[in-house]
Amino acid sequence: MPYPEIRPRRLRRTPALRRLVSETRVDPAELVVPMFVKEGLTEPRAIASLPGVLQHSRDSLRKAAVEAVQAGIGGIMLFGVPAERDPVGSGGIDPDGILNVAIRDVVAEVGDATVVMSDLCLDEFTSHGHCGLLAPNGEVDNDATLAAYAEMAVAQADAGVGVVGPSGMMDGQVGVVRKALDAAGHQDVGVLAYAVKYASAFFGPFREAVESALEGDRRTYQQDPANVRESLREVALDVAEGADMVMVKPALPYLDVVSAVRAAVDVPVAAYQVSGEYAMVEAAAANGWIDREQAMLETLTSIRRAGAQIILTYWAVEAARLLRERY
Ligand code: PBG
Repeated sequence: MPYPEIRPRRLRRTPALRRLVSETRVDPAELVVPMFVKEGLTEPRAIASLPGVLQHSRDSLRKAAVEAVQAGIGGIMLFGVPAERDPVGSGGIDPDGILNVAIRDVVAEVGDATVVMSDLCLDEFTSHGHCGLLAPNGEVDNDATLAAYAEMAVAQADAGVGVVGPSGMMDGQVGVVRKALDAAGHQDVGVLAYAVKYASAFFGPFREAVESALEGDRRTYQQDPANVRESLREVALDVAEGADMVMVKPALPYLDVVSAVRAAVDVPVAAYQVSGEYAMVEAAAANGWIDREQAMLETLTSIRRAGAQIILTYWAVEAARLLRERY
């Protein structure tokens, strides 16, 4: 050994030493749980490709929100699954649409005890499953979509949401949403911009969760997995347009992007550990191929270490409980 006195293993010898020198901790206060609520359900329903995640009824959603607050997590991101869809996604704008009703329910139940957020996108509400409105030639029409997002943002804010999460990857969406919120008197409603969103295979199980009608793909608006500089441009635009927080999505296959975004901006950076990332670990664990809890915490720690302060994860509530036991 060239340096016999330097022994890094000294600091790994006991759990107490390892705890003392640990550089990264995942805090339950920085975890956000995505939740699905389906119109017309009387009982919650399992999602086969997301074991442990439910399509909630309005009632079960309220209860789950209370449990999430009791677990000490930082936020809840709501997704609505409507009973009916149409080409323009009216259900997203309708104050009686399932997502807006669910926002009211959850806010009435938990108030300010956690941050209530909502996905601001049309794909759950359109009959074609795209995140935007279609032009006559079948392409997603950016600017027509922006007008719909503006209305949707105001509907969500009227319902009482604390933070909206525009996730459709239309150019200019953050600016339009910010302006619409301000014009409607909702200056205090924040914007968590899905600034960086890749056209990813890892969204697969989510499409089952929201019963997506999409055929084809989203490559004309979501990003090419090969690109990282493009993500920095997306983030810079969103911050300039008024984003309060920016998000990278998916998380684990894009930790370099998380890290580059963290270095580039001073707003809070979030990462979304998406459905396919969760399903991969659950499926391997169900086969006895990996240790489920260890893998869960390892992925969350890695996302945190890469520079995401806030993590959206389907494990949020369970992870929060586990983390409290461990620290
Ligand atoms: C868009 C949206 C999607 C996800 C979150 N918001 C689907 C998509 O962009 O195709 C995916 C989340 C996940 O996979 O867990 N409304």
